[in-house]
Formats: sequence, structure tokens, C-alpha cells
Amino acid sequence: MSPDSTRLRILIVGGGLAGLAAASFLRERHEVTVLERSKLDFSRNDYAISVAPNTHRLLLEQGIEDAHLKAMVLTYVWGCDADGKIVRETLAESLARFGTTTIFTRRSRLHAELHSLATGDRRPGNPARIIEEVKITAVDVAQGIITTESDDTYSGDLIIGADGINSAVRAAVLSTRSGSVDVAGGTAAVPSGLAAYLCTVPNAVLRDDPVLAFQTGEKSGMAAFQGTDPRKRVLVLPADSEDFQIVAYHPEDRWVERFTQGGSSILKDVSAERAVEDFLDFHPSIQKMLASATPPDVWRIRDLERLPSWHSGKTVLIGDAAHAVTPHFGQGCNIAIEDGEALGYFLRNVTSPAQIPIALEHFETIRIPRVHMVQFASRQVGGLLSEEERKKAAPFDSSAFMAKVYGYTSAEDTWEALKAGE
Ligand SMILES: Cc1cc2nc3c(=O)[nH]c(=O)nc-3n(C[C@H](O)[C@H](O)[C@H](O)COP(=O)(O)OP(=O)(O)OC[C@H]3O[C@@H](n4cnc5c(N)ncnc54)[C@H](O)[C@@H]3O)c2cc1C
Ligand SMILES: *[C@@H]1O[C@H](CO)[C@@H](O)[C@H](O)[C@H]1NC(C)=O
Repeated sequence: MSPDSTRLRILIVGGGLAGLAAASFLRERHEVTVLERSKLDFSRNDYAISVAPNTHRLLLEQGIEDAHLKAMVLTYVWGCDADGKIVRETLAESLARFGTTTIFTRRSRLHAELHSLATGDRRPGNPARIIEEVKITAVDVAQGIITTESDDTYSGDLIIGADGINSAVRAAVLSTRSGSVDVAGGTAAVPSGLAAYLCTVPNAVLRDDPVLAFQTGEKSGMAAFQGTDPRKRVLVLPADSEDFQIVAYHPEDRWVERFTQGGSSILKDVSAERAVEDFLDFHPSIQKMLASATPPDVWRIRDLERLPSWHSGKTVLIGDAAHAVTPHFGQGCNIAIEDGEALGYFLRNVTSPAQIPIALEHFETIRIPRVHMVQFASRQVGGLLSEEERKKAAPFDSSAFMAKVYGYTSAEDTWEALKAGE
């Protein structure tokens, strides 16, 4: 119990990007404890992700340092065909249009930086307490009590489920609501039919290839090689100053059995030959790049059906636990971090548990429509809409979408605009 009784005791389940970001935004006013299943390891040089202006802005305000992230700034986006021909070159106008750059960093570096904001002395308030290697066996959503395998219990004024796409907290929240809402299909991740190879390749491999060298000159950025099969797409983006990250989307067919048998959505270190085989209809340079890369991991691409609500009793869901999206816009972790900022805002003036329910209602009021817009667009550009949805949907307007997503400034601005009837 904290000595200051106006500070809420908040338990966050999951110390991933969403959980640690939320801890960083909440620690100023509240006492935060994070319960994480695994041992946190920031040394793994894992995959590169994009941090877009909407989130980069929020994190810079928190004191995040691009130098710690070894951030690579996105300046150009190239649309290419499967033959490697550049079809479109777009200057990424993030800074000019949205006041903040889009960057690429390794997930592990962003994770480490968020950990430092949550637990170090760069933020006001008490450091969040992070408890690792905790196995949760029960979540009492109504009472705010978590029980672990070793029979410890943790109780809080609020539980935040930030435990990812296979969230245990989500299952607990939905089971309390199933009397009143239809949750059929809403409890489990939905395979999209796509898989992606993730691997990295040294800059030199691109630089020495006449078809691919354009990414290693003066202009830096991301290239997307689109196959004639709309499900085949190879993204190449700078992971850091030495390597490029490859994310190669393809139909998941050949992997389905292993995904299902192994019960895992990630297959580690498959052979690069398999990746090459899947892209035989692409330019030989692209095949050579795949062959020269680190042995790829294969990720099953999944998202979640919309949940009608993210909270119940003393528990609320954020990040992938609430709204996993397919990675077509690279917004998954971005909207997860926005969630943390929004919780920080709506709980800023909350000084007693009785005020929490209305704060969570307001949180959902601004978060759910925004996240569903991103989810729908991700499915739309990924070619994953149902027949019926496709008929009803307006053609995708990329420029309007970017303005809405990247132009986001804060929960406070969104809430004020909503109240003013904008
Ligand atoms: C191929 C691919 C590329 C992507 N690229 C991008 C990108 O460029 N930009 C972007 O924004 N997003 C991207 N994403 C999405 C992004 O990785 C996720 O949206 C983001 O990691 C979600 O963060 P999270 O904290 O909600 O979940 P997670 O990162 O899954 O974290 C959940 C945490 O909870 C812990 N946990 C799980 N269960 C329990 C439990 N029962 N008890 C305690 N702890 C538990 C886990 O160990 C983990 O630490 C990509 C995803 C994929 C698959
Ligand atoms: C919290 O209080 C401050 C100062 O009174 C106010 O500016 C802010 O809008 C309040 N936040 C919320 C979420 O009501």
C-alpha cells in the first residue's frame, strides 16, 4: 500500500511494449507493478519496427532518445514491382506534415528504452516495479486480484491486461461479459491466411546489387516489392546502420501444419531456401537477397475480431490483448503505445477507485473507433476483407488515412475535440 492514498495501485499484466509504455505514462500519479511471464531480455537483436509520428511524438515528450534507439529516419518510400522496377518514389513528409519523423528501430531497443522510462529516473513519480517470470493462474476481474502459480496474490485498484495477442486477461474479461454480449470468435486470434519471413541482410548485399542498390545511396527508406499475387509482398527497411530488415509476406499454406502442430505462431530459423522458393516469381536479385539473409523466422499473421468493449469491473485491456492488427501499416505497437498515453491522461486526476469506471468509459470512447479504423484499413490493404465488407467499403484513401493516423497528437486533444463536437 502506498503511503499516499490518492495514488491508485495499478497492476499491469505483461511487460511488452504496451505494458512498459503504460507504466511509463502512469507512474507519475500512481503506483505501478508489472507482472511479466518471461525474463526480459533486451540483448536480442530482434526485428525492426517502425515508430510513426503519432507515437514518436508521444515518446519524445516522455524523454525517449532517438540515439538510444539507433533510430533510422524514414525519408523515402519506394513502391516496386516484382521485377525490382521502381513504380513510385514518395518523399516521406512526416516531419513537414506531422512535425515528427517516422523512425525504424529494433524492437528490443524500443523495449529497453521503455523499460528505462518506466523504471529509471527520467520520469517523475515512483519507478514501476517489474516482477519477471510470474505465471498467472487466475484473474479476478471484478475484485482486481491476480493469483500466480506459486499461490501469491496481487491485488490492485486496476488491472491492465497488456499480455499480447493470446491474452489470458482478455479471456477473463470476456468470460464476465459473455452473458450480455456476443463474443463468439472474439476470444482467439484469427489467422489471416498470410505468413511472413523475417530476416536481416547486411547493407553490402543491397549495395552490390544493381537492382537493389537504390536503397543504399543518399536516399534512405523503405521499399515494398509487390508481386502479381496481391498476397506476395517483400518489404525492405533499414534496421540500423549495418543491416536491412526483410519482411516477406506470402500465403501461409505450406506452414499451416507446423503452426497448428507446434501450437506456435513463430517458426524459428527455417531455411532461406524455402523463402527463395516462395519468391521464384520475383526478380533474381530479390531471391539472391533472401538467400544471403539470416535464416528467416516465419511469423503467422493474425489479428483479432473487434471486441465490443475492453473493460470489465476493475480490469481493462490494451495493446495486442485488446486489438491486435495485421502489420500492414506497422501500427500495432504504435496504437498500443497510444493506449498507454490515453490511460495516463484519463487516470491523471483519478484519486480514488470509485472514479475509475467513468475514466475507462472515456478511454474507450476515444480509443475504440480509432483502433478499429486502423484494423479495418490494415485488413483492407492486406486484401483480407470479407466479400461483404469489400462491397461496402469505400476505396482506400491513403492520404486521408495517413493524415488521421499520423496527425494524432494526444488523448487530451482528441477528447477536447470530441467534447467540442468536432
Ligand atoms: C511481422 C510483424 C511485424 C510488425 N511490425 C510492426 C511495426 O513495424 N510497427 C508496429 O507498430 N508494430 C509492428 N508489429 C506489431 C507489434 O509487434 C505488436 O503490435 C506489439 O508488439 C504489441 O505489443 P503488446 O505489448 O501489446 O504485446 P506483446 O509485444 O506481445 O507483449 C506481451 C507481453 O506480455 C507477456 N505475457 C503474455 N502472457 C502473459 C501472462 N499470462 N502473464 C504475464 N505476462 C504475459 C509476454 O511475455 C510479453 O512480454 C509487427 C508485428 C509482426 C508480427
Ligand atoms: C485533470 O486536471 C487538469 C487540471 O485541472 C485538467 O486540465 C485536465 O483536463 C484534467 N484531466 C482530465 C482527464 O479530466
